[in-house]
Amino acid sequence: MNVYDSEQIAARLIALGYQQTGTLETADLVIVNTCTIRAKAEQKAFSFLGRLARLKSRKPGLIIGVGGCVAQQEGAEIFRRIPQVDLVFGTQAIDRLGLLIPKIEDKRCRIVDVTMTDKPDPPDVVPNHRFDHSASAFVTIMRGCDNFCTYCVVPHVRGREASRHPDRIMKEIRDLVQSGVREVTLLGQNVNSYGKKENLWSFPELLYHVNSIEGLLRIRFTTSHPKDFGSDMINAFKINEKVCDHIHLPVQSGSDRILKRMNRKYTRELYLDKISKLRDNCSGIAITSDIIVGFPGETEADFNETLDLIKMIQFDGIFAFVYSDRPNAPAVRFKNKISEDEKRKRLQTLLDLQEDVTRMKNQTLVGSVQPILVEGTSKKQSSGSLERPRSTVQWMGRTTTNKIVNFCYKDSPQRRTDLFPGKIVYARIEKAYAHSLWGEPVGVNTTTGGLKGEESYAA
Ligand code: 5AD
Ligand code: SF4
Repeated sequence: MNVYDSEQIAARLIALGYQQTGTLETADLVIVNTCTIRAKAEQKAFSFLGRLARLKSRKPGLIIGVGGCVAQQEGAEIFRRIPQVDLVFGTQAIDRLGLLIPKIEDKRCRIVDVTMTDKPDPPDVVPNHRFDHSASAFVTIMRGCDNFCTYCVVPHVRGREASRHPDRIMKEIRDLVQSGVREVTLLGQNVNSYGKKENLWSFPELLYHVNSIEGLLRIRFTTSHPKDFGSDMINAFKINEKVCDHIHLPVQSGSDRILKRMNRKYTRELYLDKISKLRDNCSGIAITSDIIVGFPGETEADFNETLDLIKMIQFDGIFAFVYSDRPNAPAVRFKNKISEDEKRKRLQTLLDLQEDVTRMKNQTLVGSVQPILVEGTSKKQSSGSLERPRSTVQWMGRTTTNKIVNFCYKDSPQRRTDLFPGKIVYARIEKAYAHSLWGEPVGVNTTTGGLKGEESYAA
């Protein structure tokens, strides 16, 4: 979501005549778009601001802006902590940047704008300015959250849930496809409740329409809340060939007692039931999840229930976090906080268990041929082994199940031109690692049709 917001911020700066610089030191203005979902994210933001403050002592004309969730949460307090900051703007102030920045340029004043409203439709986005020209783009379909999980700061810093009008979403995606995008990830804190409040299309309806956009190859979305995930979504996976075979469905804990204290509004049994229905209907779908360890009052027995759930479900991957207190989140006041040591220990146990599962899941793909949407060349290039000779370029892309596949492609003049981000390459999976796969290309797709199946590849 912050990547998307940063693009929106950049577009407004460009409209004011700014250009992107190659290095921080040459910038006249720096905007820090912050996250406060966990304590560590907030610490990172402040340590980067400290670096900028030192830069400003050498370059007094530098304008420093702080946006995003830390800005929303802390407001003018940021000036006290980092006096070198000129602008603090909240999560709903991005569309006012065009007015705020010229004021600071003119008057060299300090401004705080953290106003929030309950508008049914958030301000429209400006034409998307994308720096990376990648084949994949994020599209925010809704903002805010009404769920109030007790550990979570999001409803307090992003406001109430509000869905964007489908016409605007459709136009934005069509424009992105025109500019070369082949995959979109639809973003919302709880995409399953898209449009409900405003009586717009439902999320499955939105998927159906996005699926019809010509030239688009893949659709992903995040995040789904298990309480709102039902048979209509299972059907959406079945009928829309561009919707990828992957769902991220955060479970957070395997203990009913903890789920209740988290205010998640589902039980372990209900979650398991949804997973089994999903797998019965969509074989081969990859399922990933988020888990919090060390929530206040989490006993050894509660934690064991989470481990047990992980063993039962066999997720394709998980994101695991140690609980941290967040301002205004009710769990701050919950008793029986777990020590940092114990939280780290639990995290390691969980990650060790999941790593074996992930590796094993990846292993089952060895020998199969997978359509890979090419994202670009790998950061790591070949050092000249037998498997990866120097004469090849190492590329990376993803399977529809969202697994990273690295592969080599001959760097000969006639072949170089037929591979670029956004192409579908069919690769035979040769090796499975904990976090990626290694493939051998067997064909490149020359059409731009829907590509969920594997039957149609040309070797
Ligand atoms: N502490 C730890 N993890 C958290 N998350 C959200 N709030 C907290 C917190 N206070 C995790 C949840 C969520 C993911 C985005 O971040 O697992 O799904
Ligand atoms: Fe936070 Fe819960 Fe909303 Fe997700 S659903 S953003 S965890 S309050």
